[in-house]
Amino acid sequence: MWIPVAYGVVASGWIALSDTLLAGAARSVQEQAAWSILKGFCFVAATSVALHAGLRWTLARERGARRLAEASEAVLRAKEERDLAERKRAAEALRESEEKLALAIEAADMGICHAVPFGPLECSPRFREIFGIADGLPINGFETFLRLVHPDDRDRHRSAVLRSLDPSGEATYEDQYRCVRPDGSVRWISARGKVRFADVNGVRQAVRTAGAVLDITERKAMQAQLMQSDRLASVGMLAAGVAHEINNPLAYLIAALDFLDGECKELAQKSPGVSSAELLEALAAAREGAGRVKHVVRDLKTFSRADEERRVQVELRPVIESSINMVFNEIKYRARLVKDYGKTPPVLANEARLGQVCLNLLVNAAQAIPEGRIDENEIRVSTKTDDLGRAVVEVRDSGPGIPPDVLKQVFDPFFTTKPTGVGTGLGLSICHNIVTGLGGEIIVESQLDEGTVFRVVLPAAPPPAEGDAGTEPALMTPSVAHRPRGRVLVVDDEPAICAALKRVLAPEHEVVALTSALEAHSRIARGERFDVILCDLMMPKMTGMELHAALTSLAPEQAARMVLLTGGAFTPVASEFLNRVPNARVEKPFDAASLRALVRGLVA
Ligand SMILES: Nc1ncnc2c1ncn2[C@@H]1O[C@H](COP(=O)(O)OP(=O)(O)OP(=O)(O)O)[C@@H](O)[C@H]1O
Ligand SMILES: [Mg+2]
Repeated sequence: MWIPVAYGVVASGWIALSDTLLAGAARSVQEQAAWSILKGFCFVAATSVALHAGLRWTLARERGARRLAEASEAVLRAKEERDLAERKRAAEALRESEEKLALAIEAADMGICHAVPFGPLECSPRFREIFGIADGLPINGFETFLRLVHPDDRDRHRSAVLRSLDPSGEATYEDQYRCVRPDGSVRWISARGKVRFADVNGVRQAVRTAGAVLDITERKAMQAQLMQSDRLASVGMLAAGVAHEINNPLAYLIAALDFLDGECKELAQKSPGVSSAELLEALAAAREGAGRVKHVVRDLKTFSRADEERRVQVELRPVIESSINMVFNEIKYRARLVKDYGKTPPVLANEARLGQVCLNLLVNAAQAIPEGRIDENEIRVSTKTDDLGRAVVEVRDSGPGIPPDVLKQVFDPFFTTKPTGVGTGLGLSICHNIVTGLGGEIIVESQLDEGTVFRVVLPAAPPPAEGDAGTEPALMTPSVAHRPRGRVLVVDDEPAICAALKRVLAPEHEVVALTSALEAHSRIARGERFDVILCDLMMPKMTGMELHAALTSLAPEQAARMVLLTGGAFTPVASEFLNRVPNARVEKPFDAASLRALVRGLVA
C-alpha cells in the first residue's frame, strides 16, 4: 500500500520541481526537449522501481502468509498428535487398571453384579456361575434374583438389601445366605453390597448398587464339620469320663458277682439241702445286667477316644457292632436288621471316625424307612473282602430309594431332603471325607421303590512290622497247663477294686493290695519284689505312669512286670504313655477268668 502512495508523492514532487525549474529558466527548445526526455525517463524508471518493489512486497507477503499457514498447520498437527498420544495413554491406563481389577476379582473368586435400584442385574460371568444362571438369561430385577435365594433365607436377605437403600442408613449390606441353583444344589453365599446415592430433584436417592458374592460352601461345610467334631469330642470326653466313673464300680461289682456266683455254686454242692436255685437265678440276672452295662460303656467308648486322629489297625466288625448298638433304637421299629459278616482284613483307621461313618449310614437307612412295617423292611449290614483284597462294608436298606436327581447330590455338604431339625445334610459329606481320607471310596446305588445300598471300600492295613506287638492291649492267654503260685502286687486308689482283685487272684497267688503308688514305690525301694504288679493308671499323689517311670530307674525288671489297669478315660498324656510302653494292660471292668489267665501267664 505504502509503495504506490510513496511513488505518487515522489512523482508529483518531481513533476512540480521540474516545472518550477523550467518555468524559472527560459530554455531553448532543445534543452526543453532533452529535459522532457530526462523527465520521461526518470518517470519510467521511478515507475518501474515502484512496480518492482510493489511486486516483491506482494510476493513476500504471500510467502509470509503461506509460511504462517504452514506453521500453524504444523502446530495444529503436533497438538492433535499430542492429544492422540494422550488419549492412547489414557485408554492404555484404563485398560491396564481394568485388567488389574478383573484379575484381583478373579483372584478373590468373586462374582460381581450392578444394578440401578430394582432394575435389571448386570452380572459378571463368575456371578452367573455361582448361582447357576445360564449365559444371556436376563435377571430382570431384585425380586427375580431373590427367587434363587433359599426360601428360609430369602426374607432376611431382602431386608438386608432394602435397609442399605435407605438414604439415612449405612449404604452397605453384608449377609450370608444359601442359594438354590436351578439343578437343586445348595450353595452358601457370602454377599456384600454398596449403594451410591445422589441428589435427584433435591431428594437424596439411591442411584446405583453393586454387589460382590463369594461361594463359601466348602468353608461352611468345614466349619460345620469342625463344630460337629467339637461337639462329638465334648460328648466323647463326657462319655469317657462317665465310662471311667462307671467302670470302676462296675469292675468290683462284676468281680463280686462272679465271686458270689462261685461261692453259691460251691455251697449248693457242699450242702445239697440248701435251696440255692433262686439265689443263683438272682445272681445270674444281676450278672447279665452288669454285663449289659459293661457293653454299653464299651460301645460308648468306641466313640469317645481322646486320641481322635490316631490311626491304628482296626477290625471292622466290632466297630460296626458298636454302631449298631448305638442306633438299634432307631432301627428296631422300622426294619429287621440282618447281619452278614464275611471275612475282612483289618484297616488302618481311627476307630471313632470309622464308627461315625457306620453310624451315619445306619441312621440314614433307618430314616429312609417309615415306622411300623417291620416285617416288610430290612436293613442288611454286610462285610466282605473284594478281589483287590480291600475291606468292604455295605449298608443296604429296603427303603423308597433315591431319585436320580437327588442321587447326584447326596454327598454334597448341606444337601438334605429332610425337614429342618431332622437333617443338616452333613452326614454323607462327613462319611465321604473320612473314607477318602483313609484312601478308600464310598459308593451309592439306588433303585426307586427297591432300596439303597451304600458301599464303603477301604484298603487293607499293611501287615505289622516284624516284632511289632500289635496295637491291641496285650491281653494274653496263657499256654501253661500248670499253675505256678506268684507274688502279685495290686495298686489301686479304690479300696473296693483292691478287694475285688485280691478276691479273684488270692486263691492262686500271694496278693499284696495297696491303695497308694507311693507306698508301692517305697516297698520296692526297700527290696521287696513281685512277679506281677497290677497298677491303676490314674491315681492321686503318684499315678501309675509316675510309678512306672520311678521303677524304670530304680528296678527296671519290676517296671517291666507292671500290668496297667485302665478305666477308659485316656488323657493325652496317658494315651502317649500307653503308646510308648510295651506293658500289658487290662481294661476295667475286667472279667475274672481273663484276669486270672493273664496273671498266670506272667507268673509262669
Ligand atoms: N438310605 C437312604 N435312602 C434314601 N435317601 C437317602 C439315604 N441316605 C441318604 N439319603 C438322602 O441323602 C440326603 C443326604 O444325606 P445326609 O446323610 O448327608 O444328610 P441328612 O441325613 O439329610 O442329614 P444329617 O445326616 O446331617 O442328619 C438325605 O437327606 C436323603 O435325601
Ligand atoms: Mg444323614
